[in-house]
Amino acid sequence: MEEIRIGELDLAPFCGEMIDLRDKAVLGIGDKKIIAQAEKFAKADTIIVAAPYWDMSFPSILRVYTEHICVCGVTFVYEPDGTPKGLCRAKKAVYITTAGGFINDKNYGYDYIKGIFEFMGICDTHFLRAEGLDIDGNDPMQILENAKRNAAMLAEKI
Ligand SMILES: Cc1cc2nc3c(=O)[nH]c(=O)nc-3n(C[C@H](O)[C@H](O)[C@H](O)COP(=O)(O)O)c2cc1C
Repeated sequence: MEEIRIGELDLAPFCGEMIDLRDKAVLGIGDKKIIAQAEKFAKADTIIVAAPYWDMSFPSILRVYTEHICVCGVTFVYEPDGTPKGLCRAKKAVYITTAGGFINDKNYGYDYIKGIFEFMGICDTHFLRAEGLDIDGNDPMQILENAKRNAAMLAEKI
């Protein structure tokens, strides 16, 4: 298992100049470093994402990471008729989040990850949460224990 701490990768949000460099890297021209995360992601067997629930989704660095892994020619391609086709080896993914309050129907972070993973060919995604962690009177350790139990049950199932 490889753990990637995306906050430590020093990833920059994409701009036009980087997209040109990336297009060239996919064609084998220039430095391949710009597509390194996408190549790694495409080869993974199973993906587990862990991110806190921030501002109804997740910290922006995770969105920056998805910019780096969503690469035409590496993690997906377009068919001649324009239909996208995922190229990732992984078929399963789990998204785990911790929330200070309650997510209810505002699960925008997971919904986005599920959508973009499907686009890249990872269609069997699962969601785990530990919620209400910052609410006075709640016992965060107990909430985390329950979440761990749910995670173990999910691991048995998938
Ligand atoms: C910048 C920021 C934004 C947050 N936004 C939300 C939010 O929209 N809803 C919520 O329930 N909790 C929110 N929280 C609380 C976090 O979800 C909670 O503290 C965190 O998940 C605890 O996990 P951690 O100890 O792994 O960071 C926010 C916390 C921070 C720092």
